[in-house]
Amino acid sequence: ARPIKIAPSILASDFARFGEEVKAIDEAGCDWIHVDVMDGHFVPNISFGPQVVKAIRPYTSKFIDTHLMISPVDLYLEDFATAGSDLITVHAEAGPHLDRSLQAIKALGKKSGVSLNPGTHESVIEYVLDKVDMVLLMSVNPGFGGQKFLPSVIEKTRRVVEMIGDRDIDIQIDGGVTVETAPLVAEAGANILVAGSAVFKGGSIESYAENIAMIREA
Ligand code: DX5
Ligand code: ZN
Repeated sequence: ARPIKIAPSILASDFARFGEEVKAIDEAGCDWIHVDVMDGHFVPNISFGPQVVKAIRPYTSKFIDTHLMISPVDLYLEDFATAGSDLITVHAEAGPHLDRSLQAIKALGKKSGVSLNPGTHESVIEYVLDKVDMVLLMSVNPGFGGQKFLPSVIEKTRRVVEMIGDRDIDIQIDGGVTVETAPLVAEAGANILVAGSAVFKGGSIESYAENIAMIREA
């Protein structure tokens, strides 16, 4: 099995102090930094854009995992690549040309991810798996942090593990990941766990370190 990575979502951090917050989760022992980009159109909330990726880039040398919940998406891929994203994830539901979006990410020299909403069947990624480095399975409906984990993702994770076979593709789970739900998805075969509220609760580097360690142990 692949080692578990923990990717705190800065959507749950203090927006007035992105740099310090990123440095704090880095020092607290996270593996990746998860950046949730929302456009008020694909999802019913607005967060931030590539300027924030650019602004936080000097505060960490860790892998920046950019989750784009935006439509259309192709227009903005280059901006995120230039800003310093290491991996760019697009939603399968964000447009009619998933294959084109994934090709564009690879052409920019970045790792590519494809995300599925809770209601989307995994079959939509079958013919693009050769262009994908990571599959992100949403365990909440995207748009907000702090929502309740949807257990249907556990069976879906098992199915995606089967589809992937021996390809070198990570499986990420995003939404409602806590010490209670992390073991369920890890057991099903997910290896990258995004956590927003469960990491940033407490508001200090000591609590972030403890929160990350507790999820890892779970
Ligand atoms: C939801 C985002 C998630 C979210 C996770 O649209 O993609 O990354 O911030 O937050 P928690 O861990 O609080 O559910
Ligand atoms: Zn996310």
